[in-house]
Amino acid sequence: MKRSWLIMGAVFLISALILAACGGGGSAAESEGTESYEQPPAEYASMTNPVKGDASAISAGSETYATNCASCHGQTGLGDGPAGASLDPHPGNLQEAGSEASDAYLYWRISEGGAMAPFNSSMPAWKGVLSEDQIWQVVAYIQTLSN
Ligand code: HEC
Repeated sequence: MKRSWLIMGAVFLISALILAACGGGGSAAESEGTESYEQPPAEYASMTNPVKGDASAISAGSETYATNCASCHGQTGLGDGPAGASLDPHPGNLQEAGSEASDAYLYWRISEGGAMAPFNSSMPAWKGVLSEDQIWQVVAYIQTLSN
């Protein structure tokens, strides 16, 4: 009994060390504000959200979100919606993406979805389903989620 606790302790220590080592590598990217989000392709790269922080856009975006996104991403964006539970890869944490990813990244990912490398996920493409305005509204909403 005592011995197995010792082994567990050692395993825990080793994983903590590995995590600390990886975390050290990630913090450099974090301080540049890019975290680990992919760079959007050229046609999206310079886009900025024209309605960021706009109250009526955020409210329209929250309705679009509740109808189209919450089933997978969860009511509060944590990725815990019922339809997302069995997906692999799992729906992203939109509270994190909303505060850390660029406007361009969010617009790109919502427009084009996950049917491409490196994502290869069941995130739907909303281009053609939602208008450009609606996508920016939902981006504006996601950008409020971590508040
Ligand atoms: C069928 C389930 C499903 C629905 C519905 C869905 N998503 Fe996703 N979404 C995913 C999955 C799975 C991922 C994670 C894999 C990836 O990045 O492609 C994802 C990723 C994302 C990302 C990238 C997150 C990151 O951390 O990089 C954004 C942004 C996003 N979704 C927004 C939305 C929005 C906005 C809607 C509604 C208009 C929506 N999603 C609807 C499944 C879904």
